[in-house]
Amino acid sequence: MHKLADFIQYEHSTLRPHVELIRVTADTVGEVPLPILRDLTNAVLGFLLRELMPHAREEREVLYKALEQATQAPGSTATMNREHLEVSKLADQLGDLRRVLYGLYALINLHFAKEGEIYSDILEHRLSTTEKGLLVASLSHCQGERQCSRFVPLAPTAGNSLPSFGPSIRIPASR
Ligand SMILES: [Fe+2]
Ligand SMILES: [Fe+2]
Repeated sequence: MHKLADFIQYEHSTLRPHVELIRVTADTVGEVPLPILRDLTNAVLGFLLRELMPHAREEREVLYKALEQATQAPGSTATMNREHLEVSKLADQLGDLRRVLYGLYALINLHFAKEGEIYSDILEHRLSTTEKGLLVASLSHCQGERQCSRFVPLAPTAGNSLPSFGPSIRIPASR
């Protein structure tokens, strides 16, 4: 079974080249002809809207819920969700290109580090082997579908403060 940290790192490693494109695009502002800059900006916007925001949504609905239940700390992931919102807002403001792109680059890298190091470490220690396996399976499913639109809230297991993970974590969106 993959460790949670490995899973999160892998997920981020697939996104990271596109995150680097944000910095590259910021570097080119004022240095390349406008049509090239426009293409780069469109590529960044496409990544943000089609890849990064869905990634953030699945984290909010699966990973963060699992962490709040594992730590019995409702609301503890609010600051991370706030960062997701900030990325979303910056994506909407791509007018002031250079400032926004450097801001996005720094914010996303910091955010990845928090999830990859802190959240995975907490869950690694708090969840059973079975729960970790099921959580990775749920995240993998979201990753494959890139949509996690309907969820059943995780319910604490009776007599046990740890959450009960399973296929019921997520109901695939009806097609
Ligand atoms: Fe995130
Ligand atoms: Fe993430």
